[in-house]
Amino acid sequence: MTEIIDEERLGAIWTAVVDSLKEVVRKHKITEQELHAAGDFLNRLGQAGMCRSLIDVALALTSVDALDIAAGGTRANLEGPYHAAHPVRSEGKLFEHDPAPETPLLTLSGTVREAATGAPAPGARLDFWQADEGGHYDRAGNHLRGVILADDTGRYKVTTVIPSDYSEHDHDPIGELFRAMGRTNTRAAHIHLKVSTGSTLRLTTQLFLPTSMFLDRDYVEGAVSPDLTLHLAEQEAFPGGGPRYTAEFDIFLGSEPAA
Ligand code: BEZ
Ligand code: FE
Repeated sequence: MTEIIDEERLGAIWTAVVDSLKEVVRKHKITEQELHAAGDFLNRLGQAGMCRSLIDVALALTSVDALDIAAGGTRANLEGPYHAAHPVRSEGKLFEHDPAPETPLLTLSGTVREAATGAPAPGARLDFWQADEGGHYDRAGNHLRGVILADDTGRYKVTTVIPSDYSEHDHDPIGELFRAMGRTNTRAAHIHLKVSTGSTLRLTTQLFLPTSMFLDRDYVEGAVSPDLTLHLAEQEAFPGGGPRYTAEFDIFLGSEPAA
């Protein structure tokens, strides 16, 4: 802790957190018994190794927005737990194996630009990863994972499947908390994306699918926003094939985040 935060800053933050929580206790007239139940829950959360995940779910997007990460450009979003090193997909498809014929497909394209000047970013590296049509990430292989390189004019194009919503933490204290509140612990369908120019990582974000049932109740607080939600145009399906969509999404690279 002391490696990343100095004594004075830590003290100021602790005081602010306690003051905010005192206000919550007053406002909701929280009993001592309820406070102890909260403590017991936090103990179990820690034993399950889930404290960091709950902090991400509740607060990490507020930090991303407050620090104006990727300032002036496309809104940044959380990396989440499923990123890995991905192969370059020179054919423009994220598939490792062909999806079933009825699977809804998406061709996503756009231009990568510098937000400050509007100039295209030729050769930008777009690293995508996502859940499949059943809401599962390939954790062992590279299905629906891959790097697409923008062309000389900054244009990129990738074909993939439409990901599904997925539910996380069904069997741990985080899921238990959301169920106790009558809420779902579901992520709205999204495609993760990291964009680099040269060797510099410029943006980490997520693009949301308007096909999702959970855009208004993603359990990651503040993750979904209209500017990160794709607009799909339905195309004619191949005979015997599933629906096919296209979407255009330009990416604007902001300035480096302040240290
Ligand atoms: C995800 O998109 O995979 C994710 C991001 C933040 C918290 C939980 C999941
Ligand atoms: Fe995800």
